Amino acid sequence: MSLFRLRTAVLALVLLGTGCESEAPFPTEDELEQLSILHTPSVKPEVDPTNKFGDNASAAALGHRLFEDKGLSRCGTVSCRDCHQGDSYTVETATAEGCGGQRTERNPPSLLNTGYNRWFMWDGRADRLWSQAVLPLTNPVEMDSDAVVVRARLVADPAYVSAYTQLFGTAPADESDGDRLMANVGKVLAAYQRTLNRTDSPFDADVRRFLAAVEAGTQEKDPAYLGLKTFVRKGQCVVCHKGRMLTDDKFHNLGLKDAGAGKRGQADAVDSLLSWKFNAAGLFSDAPTGLDAARLPTLRAQAQGKPDEVVGAFRTPTLRNVAMSAPYMHTGAEKTLEEVVDFYNEGGDPDGTFPGVRTVTIVKLDLSSEEKQALVTLLKSMTGAPR
Ligand code: HEC
Ligand code: HEC
Repeated sequence: MSLFRLRTAVLALVLLGTGCESEAPFPTEDELEQLSILHTPSVKPEVDPTNKFGDNASAAALGHRLFEDKGLSRCGTVSCRDCHQGDSYTVETATAEGCGGQRTERNPPSLLNTGYNRWFMWDGRADRLWSQAVLPLTNPVEMDSDAVVVRARLVADPAYVSAYTQLFGTAPADESDGDRLMANVGKVLAAYQRTLNRTDSPFDADVRRFLAAVEAGTQEKDPAYLGLKTFVRKGQCVVCHKGRMLTDDKFHNLGLKDAGAGKRGQADAVDSLLSWKFNAAGLFSDAPTGLDAARLPTLRAQAQGKPDEVVGAFRTPTLRNVAMSAPYMHTGAEKTLEEVVDFYNEGGDPDGTFPGVRTVTIVKLDLSSEEKQALVTLLKSMTGAPR
């Protein structure tokens, strides 16, 4: 036990002993550790060994064009961009519109920093950015497409034909394996999306300044004091929104009202991911056999070991750029950051309005209005500059 920790422990005992309600100074050594990994100078998304085109500039250029091409949809009116709009790469409504005016079931996440994600979709039913793309392409509600439609679109444009052929060594017309064609299109779409990063925000500068103030013993005077303290201590936000990307890359049941068909979240996603031909352990991965497959058996073991924890569980999203992507949560039910903070302050929605069991961290918080405001200000400071 370090001196610092010993001192805090002794202090806590003294406080307990006197029945005094005042608390340990913020941050304790553990809290300091959590704070010190929240900010990082911009780092590129980790290389994805399952997509050898992931950081290829020609692949990203082709991916960019395809991302905006409505011709990839069967109805001819819906591109990726239609549901991932503007600077935020999402929509301002709870759900988005696909082929024939159909509505998606869930709120489209922003695609900013999506290359840093470990799992994709709110329920984690894709384990790689490139394979994720197959889902909206083939979803009847979204682009309602398939390899025949996609191949025809590629073949119709000489620029597509030459870019595709240069990258993959086969012309799209000769790519007889439709699954291979879809995986390749996913890989170039991923290369483009991996460039949509915004990581450096006022929040990072605030955390760095705060850490220096802790060193100097002047943190209580720092403007970020109350926000960071509430985020780390009373709000427990950092339990899940941790590390550089402000996410634990895990799934939790917050007790968010949901009566939709997909309300069971991760519980209905694990098996489909594990048996999916496009997963990272499958034929279309560029990683040597087995190398990258370790995450899937781990996922299976987790899901089987604690079946209760996956029902109604959704992925912890990054909080970076969160001010840009209202409305919030997988349902899009919370319209503003103030509403999100109220949701947490209430300890989630009432029992009976969601499936499964609410995770133990989500409890009534009794935040003061200053603490709530400080949290909202903190969340708003997480918007990064474009790069
Ligand atoms: C009709 C609207 C719509 C279209 C078209 C669409 N998306 Fe999405 N996108 C969504 C919704 C809704 C989700 C969340 C779905 C879920 O989690 O169940 C999503 C999720 C994603 C995610 C996961 C992000 C994350 O953080 O988990 C990525 C990446 C993505 N879309 C990329 C694309 C690409 C690439 C295309 C084109 C091939 C595309 N989208 C087309 C609506 C759309
Ligand atoms: C138990 C883990 C956990 C804790 C603790 C937690 N969150 Fe979350 N957070 C999540 C998950 C999971 C979601 C997505 C839930 C869903 O849509 O069903 C989420 C969603 C959000 C969103 C919406 C993001 C978006 O893009 O829609 C915000 C904002 C947010 N949390 C902020 C906070 C704040 C502030 C706190 C502390 C008061 C906090 N979270 C505490 C796990 C957690």
